[in-house]
Amino acid sequence: MRLVLLGAPGSGKGTQATRLREHLQVPHISTGELLRAAVKAGTPLGLQAKAVMEAGSLVSDEIVLGMLEERLTAGDTGNGFILDGYPRNLAQANALDALLKRLDQPVDIAVQLDVDTELLIGRLAGRAQAEGRADDSPDAVRNRLTVYNDATAPVVDFYRNSGRLACVDGVGGMDEVFSRILSTLAPTPEIG
Ligand code: AP5
Ligand code: MG
Repeated sequence: MRLVLLGAPGSGKGTQATRLREHLQVPHISTGELLRAAVKAGTPLGLQAKAVMEAGSLVSDEIVLGMLEERLTAGDTGNGFILDGYPRNLAQANALDALLKRLDQPVDIAVQLDVDTELLIGRLAGRAQAEGRADDSPDAVRNRLTVYNDATAPVVDFYRNSGRLACVDGVGGMDEVFSRILSTLAPTPEIG
């Protein structure tokens, strides 16, 4: 199963990807986590990305695509993957389709987690207090939500228009949301 998780900041992509990884036994690939690891390690890429991420803006398409290609060719994605945080704009969506076509591993389904903005802000404020992630400050959260609406929301239509989108209500308990995702992945029983 090759699955893309879509959703605004705080919609639960990382939370659900952890559960899906266990269930599907495929790697969870989060471009945000790969970038945070590069920042922490102080690599040249991390140094370039740090300020952009702290402001809640998007790191350049070129940097992220290079990083993603390296990860997708690491040799452990033969049974699939869960992609979290990529694609984030239409250029990335097209680049991903081209890359996966080349690797003969097309996306099976994109699952969008739908959560309203007030709830997202509340969740991220909670995580700011609990974990202190650099981009969970109120200013960065505001910018991340704007970037999501301007650049990333069209990606939902990209998958809808190609018949690969499942929308899931992301409000409710974490296990409840997980069950909803699983039910969208279950094959539809044949009728007749
Ligand atoms: P990224 O790491 O992808 O962050 P994000 O999209 O802003 O999303 P979050 O990780 O904050 O939220 P999430 O949806 O994973 O929710 P979570 O499960 O954590 O990207 C960070 C930055 O990296 C970007 O801003 C950009 O700079 C850069 N970047 C990354 N990818 C890029 C790309 N492709 N191109 C360019 N730049 C890129 O949950 C959030 C909180 O809510 C948690 O505290 C959780 O416990 C809680 N929660 C989750 N589910 C529930 C629930 N059902 N009920 C109650 N609480 C819940
Ligand atoms: Mg996340």
